[in-house]
Amino acid sequence: MNLKDTIVTIPNFPKEGIMFRDITTLLENGEAFKQTIEELASFAEEMGATVIVGPEARGFLFGAPVAAKLGLGFVPVRKPGKLPRAQITEEYSLEYGTNTLCIHEDALKKGDKVLIIDDLLATGGTALAAAHLCEKTGAKVVGLAFVIDLVDLKGKEVLKDYPVKTLIEFE
Ligand code: PRP
Ligand code: ADE
Repeated sequence: MNLKDTIVTIPNFPKEGIMFRDITTLLENGEAFKQTIEELASFAEEMGATVIVGPEARGFLFGAPVAAKLGLGFVPVRKPGKLPRAQITEEYSLEYGTNTLCIHEDALKKGDKVLIIDDLLATGGTALAAAHLCEKTGAKVVGLAFVIDLVDLKGKEVLKDYPVKTLIEFE
C-alpha cells in the first residue's frame, strides 16, 4: 500500500507556518504499520545491524518493533532526567538554544553495529546527536532509517557520512 496516503497533515501545528506530518494515523492502520516495520527491518538486515537505537519519543514507536521482529536489542535515547543509571550526553543546537540527549553508558559497546530509527527526518539535528552518542560508546553507526523525510530541510546533507533510508518524502 502507499504509506504516504496514511499520513495526515495538520497546518499550523504546533506553531504558525508548520505543516505537521502526523504518524498516528499510520500507526492506527494495521496494514500500514506492518509494512513500515517490514521495510525498516529489511534495511536493518541489509546494513548488518546488531542493535537498534531509537530517540524519544516517536523513535520508540518504530525502533522497538523492528528490534523485536529481528530478535535484536533496542536501546532508547532519552531526553535529560529520564534514564536511571550512568549515562553519556550529547548537546546539539536548535534554531534557538540547545537540546541534550542521553544514553546509558553501558547500553552499547565496541563492535556493536547500530541502526538508528526515528519517525521523521527534519533538520537532522536529533539524528546526528544520536549518532554521536552511539559513537562515544565505541559502537559503529551502520545507518539511519526514518519513516518520513521533510526533504526541504535537507537533513540528508547533515547525515551525509552515513547510509540513510527514508520511506516517505514530503516537500
Ligand atoms: C521530532 C521527531 C524527530 C525530530 C526531528 O521529535 O520525532 O525525533 O523531531 O527533527 P530534527 O531532524 O530537526 O532534529 P521531537 O523532538 O518533537 O520529540 P517527540 O518524538 O518526543 O515528539
Ligand atoms: N518534527 C519536526 N518537524 C515536524 C513536522 N513538520 N511534522 C511532524 N513532526 C515534526
